[in-house]
Amino acid sequence: MERPTVLTGIKPTGHPHLGNYIGAIKPALEMAEDNRSQGIYFIADYHALNSVQDRQEFKEYTYEIAAAWLALGLDPDKVIFYRQSDVPEILELHWILSCMTPKGLMNRAHAYKAKVEENNLEGNDQDSGVNMGLFTYPILMASDILLFNSDQVPVGKDQVQHVEIARDIAENFNRTFGEVLKLPQYVIEEETAVIPGLDGRKMSKSYGNTIPLFTEEKALKKLINKIVTDSTPPEEPKEVKGSSLFTLYKEFAAEDEIESMREKYRKGIGWGQVKKEVFEVINRELREPRRKYYEYLEDTKALDEVLKRGAQEARSIAAVQLRKVKEMIGC
Ligand code: TRP
Repeated sequence: MERPTVLTGIKPTGHPHLGNYIGAIKPALEMAEDNRSQGIYFIADYHALNSVQDRQEFKEYTYEIAAAWLALGLDPDKVIFYRQSDVPEILELHWILSCMTPKGLMNRAHAYKAKVEENNLEGNDQDSGVNMGLFTYPILMASDILLFNSDQVPVGKDQVQHVEIARDIAENFNRTFGEVLKLPQYVIEEETAVIPGLDGRKMSKSYGNTIPLFTEEKALKKLINKIVTDSTPPEEPKEVKGSSLFTLYKEFAAEDEIESMREKYRKGIGWGQVKKEVFEVINRELREPRRKYYEYLEDTKALDEVLKRGAQEARSIAAVQLRKVKEMIGC
């Protein structure tokens, strides 16, 4: 029996941080190790283009994502790994699907609707700041998914609607021309703990409270020292619940280490000491990937090569599917 295809895209819109790693990259890497499915992972650079419109940044983010995934152990011999803009078939399907998609369906997409609501609140024209790339974003995503006969699409909660839209578009197409497009299922990535940022709120680029994933050792230590704590004196017992440092520690430490840290909280431990131990477990896990990450970034030719090889594989699958679709519509 054929293995199911599991496809997901990563939008390069910022520098990867610890929250991305724990919430998205790590679970996806674990899934890629599972040989029971064919993994397709790609860098959705054309999706980023509706917001990242600086040449240097655009390049940087794409390479950083590629370097990060490879450094953390993504094996391009096991999964198909490419850059979306290297696979022009996606754009060809995008046009075809655009012609099958009612405009009203796009009006209801969350990202666009949120922007319109924001504009209305601020008394702007409802489409102020909306480009067509943002408006038709779900159609590009449907093309990504449907071109590869994807069975499963692992996504965060905010992307579920987009996968549903892809299903709607596929159903529309199949009803009009016959069954060619496979209806994908979304798989919601299991809720991981909310990773706290430096100020204790959720770690997020928009709060400016992130710890960059591959920041050098010294800088990492400094940032961890900045994580806010309360003013309980060292000898006093502390709550693990709600402690940012404990939450971070738990993600990187082994079971027995977590237990003994719990015990230390119970008995009383100084925040300085906790910070030191948090640094140590994070650094232990990221030291080697960090070295590889910078090696890759120094050699973007090697990255290009990996991505080009992936694109060739992707295009050979895409071409077959696109030919079928064009055949159905009469091209
Ligand atoms: N829109 C997704 C995000 O913002 C990225 C993405 C693009 C994607 N194409 C995809 C995810 C196809 C899954 C499948 O995170």
